[in-house]
Amino acid sequence: MKLYTSQVLLLLACVCNLHVCNALLFFQNWFQPVENAVVDTKTFLLHDRVLRFANEVEVFEESRHDLSQTIAQLNSANIKHYSQDPHNVPVPLEQYQGQYILRLYDWNEKLENRLALKQQPSFFEFAFTIVRQLEVPIWEKSTTHKFIDVQVTKSQGEELLSLLSMVYSGPDDFQSKIMILDLPQSVYETFSVSELDSGDAVVDDISTNAEIFFKSYRDLDTIYSWFDLLVDTYPDILQVEYIGNTFEGRPMKALRLSVHSDSKVDSIKTVVITSGIHAREWVSISSSCFILFQLLSDYENGNLAVRRYLENLDFLFLPVMNPDGYVNTWKNERLWRKNKQQTYNPRCAGIDIDHSFGFHFTTGYESPCSEDYAGESEFEALESYNWDNYLNETKHSHPIYAYIDLHSYAEEVLYPYAYSCDILPRDEENLLELAYGLGQAIRLKSGKYYEVLKACEDKGADLLPSMGAGSALDYMYHNKAYWAFVLKLRDSGTHGFLLPSKYIVPVGKEIYAAIKYFAAFLLSDKYA
Ligand SMILES: *[C@@H]1O[C@H](CO)[C@@H](O)[C@H](O)[C@H]1NC(C)=O
Ligand SMILES: [Zn+2]
Repeated sequence: MKLYTSQVLLLLACVCNLHVCNALLFFQNWFQPVENAVVDTKTFLLHDRVLRFANEVEVFEESRHDLSQTIAQLNSANIKHYSQDPHNVPVPLEQYQGQYILRLYDWNEKLENRLALKQQPSFFEFAFTIVRQLEVPIWEKSTTHKFIDVQVTKSQGEELLSLLSMVYSGPDDFQSKIMILDLPQSVYETFSVSELDSGDAVVDDISTNAEIFFKSYRDLDTIYSWFDLLVDTYPDILQVEYIGNTFEGRPMKALRLSVHSDSKVDSIKTVVITSGIHAREWVSISSSCFILFQLLSDYENGNLAVRRYLENLDFLFLPVMNPDGYVNTWKNERLWRKNKQQTYNPRCAGIDIDHSFGFHFTTGYESPCSEDYAGESEFEALESYNWDNYLNETKHSHPIYAYIDLHSYAEEVLYPYAYSCDILPRDEENLLELAYGLGQAIRLKSGKYYEVLKACEDKGADLLPSMGAGSALDYMYHNKAYWAFVLKLRDSGTHGFLLPSKYIVPVGKEIYAAIKYFAAFLLSDKYA
C-alpha cells in the first residue's frame, strides 16, 4: 500500500493520541501529498533520534539500581547526591523521577525556506503545536536561539520525537538532546547545599551577612528578614513598602531606595525593578536582591557614579512579586510558575501573574490547569491588582520613569511589545539602542552574550496572540514607564530554571552592570 506522508502522520497520530490527531488535522492542509513520498511507519517510529533518546534514558534508569558510581562521581566534584542528604530536601523529589528535560534545537534553515515556499508551518510552529497538544510543560522556547525545552516522561519524549521526525526526518533537520537527565538531583542542588552555608545564623555585620546571604538561594522568610536588616542598616535611605496581601495571606513587600529629603522628592523619577513573578525563576530574585545591596554599599562607599545615579533617581524593588508561588517552590513543587490563587477549577490552582495585567488582556484560551492561565478577568491575580493599586496611589509622589522585570532563563534582553509584533513601540530606535547597551554592559562584565529581541517574538505571540497578552512589561510600558525591558537571565541551556547557587553572584554582578548602564543612560543629557 502506498501512503502519503501526511496520511501516515495523521493515522499514527490518531492512534497515539487524539489531541495530536486534532493538531495534525489542523495542519494537514499544509502537507500536500508529495509524489513518491512512500513511507514505512516502522522506519518513522524507529528514527535515530527516538532511539537515541530512549537509549539514553534506559541507560540512566539502569544506573539507578546501583548508585555508587553516580555518587562517587558527584562527590569527586564536591556535590552530594540527594540520597546522602535526605534532611536538606524541602520538596518531595520523587515527583521528578522519570521526568527529563528535552531540548529540540538547531532546526535547519534550508528546510525552513522550503517549508516557507510551500506555505507550510515552520518547525517552531509545528513543534510548538504538538508540544501544546501533548500537554507537556514547556520550560523555555526561543525562535531566535532556535530551541524549545520541554519536560517529558520517556514515553512523551518518544511520542514527541516520533511525530516531529515524521515531518522533519532528515538527520540535520533538527537536533535533540536531553538537557537534564537527572531531574531530582538538579532540583536538589538548587537548595542550600554549600558546606560553608551557615543557614540562618545571625550575623550583625551587614557585609559579612551579604556574603553569606548570596551563597545560597533564600526562602521567603529569610529574604523578608534580610529586608528588615537592610532597613535597620540604612534607615535614612531605604524603606519597606507594603504592597498588599496575596491569596494565601502573605504580604508583598517592596523596598524604596531614595537618598532625598522628602521636599525634593516630587521631581525625582523612579526606576522600578521587579522579579520572581514566575515562582521557579529563583535567580531573578537573588539578582534583584544583589543589585539592591550593591547600590546601597557602593553609595555608602562613596562610589561617584552610583552617588550620581541615586542623587538623580529613586529605585523601587519588588524582589518577590509572587510570594505564594515562591513559597510553593520551597515546600512542594520546585518547578511551580504561577501564583496559588483559587480558580473555577478546584483541581487546578494558580494564575500566571504575567498574563493578568490590564493591557491587551485575553482570557478563555488557556484553562486553569495551564501554566499560562491568565484568569477570567484582568487583574484577577491579587499580585497584579495590588501592584496596580500601589502604583496608582504613589504615582504623584513617585512618578515612574523606567522599568525592568527580571526573569530566567535564555540570556535575553526583551523590549515591548509582548502582545503583538505588528505594533511599533514608541521611540523604537532609542529603545533598541538601550536594549543593546544593556546587552553590551553584561558582555563587558562577564562575556555572556544576551540576545536582544522583541518580547512578542520571545513569547510566541506571533504564533498565538494570547501568549503575549496581559504582561507586566506591556502594562508598565504603556501606562507607567517611559522605558521598559525584560531581562531573561542565565543560563542558556544547561541548568535552565535549576541554576546552581554558585552562579548567584556572577549573575548578580553582570545584571548590576546592566542596571548601572541603564541609570547612566537615563541620566544622559540626550534623554533627560
Ligand atoms: C489605577 O488607575 C487606573 C487609571 O485611573 C484605573 O483604571 C485602575 O482601575 C486603577 N487601579 C486600581 C487597582 O484601583
Ligand atoms: Zn518568567
